[in-house]
Amino acid sequence: MHDFYYKNGTLHCEEVAVEDLVAQAGTPLYIYSQKTIVENIRRLEIALAPLDPLICYAIKANSSLGILHLAAKMGTGFDVVSLGELLKVRQAGGDTHKCVFAGVAKTIHEITESLKLGIYAFNIESIPELERINEIAGNLKLKAPIAIRVNPNVDAGTHSKITTGTYKNKFGIAFEEISDLYSRIASEFQNIYIRGIQMHIGSQITQPTPFVQSIQKMVPLVEKLRDLYNIEFFSIGGGIGIAYQDALQSGSHEWWQGKGADFMSPEKFAQAIIPLLQPLGLKILLEPGRFIVGNAGILVTEVQYVKQTPQKNFVVVDAGMNDLIRPALYDSYHEIIPVEEDLLQETFKADVVGPICESADTFCQDREIAKVEQGDYLVLMSAGAYGMTMACNYNGRPIPAEVIVNHDKADYLRLRESIQTTWRYEGIPEWLLFEDEKKQSQTGQPLPVTEPLPESPQE
Ligand code: LLP
Repeated sequence: MHDFYYKNGTLHCEEVAVEDLVAQAGTPLYIYSQKTIVENIRRLEIALAPLDPLICYAIKANSSLGILHLAAKMGTGFDVVSLGELLKVRQAGGDTHKCVFAGVAKTIHEITESLKLGIYAFNIESIPELERINEIAGNLKLKAPIAIRVNPNVDAGTHSKITTGTYKNKFGIAFEEISDLYSRIASEFQNIYIRGIQMHIGSQITQPTPFVQSIQKMVPLVEKLRDLYNIEFFSIGGGIGIAYQDALQSGSHEWWQGKGADFMSPEKFAQAIIPLLQPLGLKILLEPGRFIVGNAGILVTEVQYVKQTPQKNFVVVDAGMNDLIRPALYDSYHEIIPVEEDLLQETFKADVVGPICESADTFCQDREIAKVEQGDYLVLMSAGAYGMTMACNYNGRPIPAEVIVNHDKADYLRLRESIQTTWRYEGIPEWLLFEDEKKQSQTGQPLPVTEPLPESPQE
């Protein structure tokens, strides 16, 4: 399932040595195992086979075109949260009719374009959104397929910044209001087609209990809506957690399953939810993101300096919070291992820190890690989900490259951004130019920086 392991003393992704990839593509570098992604999708499909679900891959976890194409080839649908994501699915060869569109702030433009393209359903987050969609669909003489996103007010027991299913969160419509709302839609909203119902309680959920609790709460409501409005589907959202710890058992393919027997595997998840969902006789949708790609990706970084102070050892690497923001944003844990296995023979306590001018740019604190030196490579494990998609150019840093491995082959999914392209959409207003620069621009040879900006693709 997990295909990063040491062979001949050096870390491999499937059959390719990480050091060979780094020699060609440089660092920081995201590397993905195709086999892991494929097996994760298959494993979910097999575990949930009795439900014959539509797996809508949540592309916010990793929206690389190549990975979207792989998922599309395997027949998945997609969970998108913007027109940008929807168009990217289409660009990758995915079927927009298998897309669910979530998000609290859908714009007129996004709704119009999605209706024209044809999607499976909008997951509605508020009544004003429903009114807007109804109006736009009317203008287009279409019926907009929708599901209301129910906020079941169940605490998923995960990090507060990735909890979504309680009344403290901005998401969904309160459980108690749903019944009346569907009846209102059926009678008042002429351009809406009630297709289903949806919930999503949070991310990185490592136990079945929150899923079970929220599904149990939802079942009577879902039955009622099925009987009254003939709804077609119930989406239980995403959120299946993955293990972020224990990568140090080198060579083991099992570490990703997590410490202890009680960590939720897809099989345990399936075992807990199938009996609740099967009797509904509805199409079941899931929106997993992290589970599919999280442990299929790593971020490789080069040690620039080892800085020793009387208090601490700082291992300063060339990847920063702009490349992988999860530790800074959620204090999240990523296993950190060296590319060369023998470096594990000696360890020391260190903070692994990046180049960004923020103290939050810290991947771990006072952790026992391999005793690395300048020029060694370190790997941040489990970086396939919410790594690259959350990367940015902070501190003038180009977005890293991405490589995918398939058995003994490897290729780029994305080239390393050049420094110059980081300011490609910027310009300098004429009134800020120096006199001689103005003269130059009056000669009819505009400075590169004063080239007109491309029209906003938004409206
Ligand atoms: N469906 C909806 C409506 C969502 O909002 C999300 C994630 C998913 C599905 C997929 O959840 P997953 O299966 O990946 O847990 N950046 C954070 C995670 C944010 C999740 C946002 N919503 C992190 O790095 O942990």
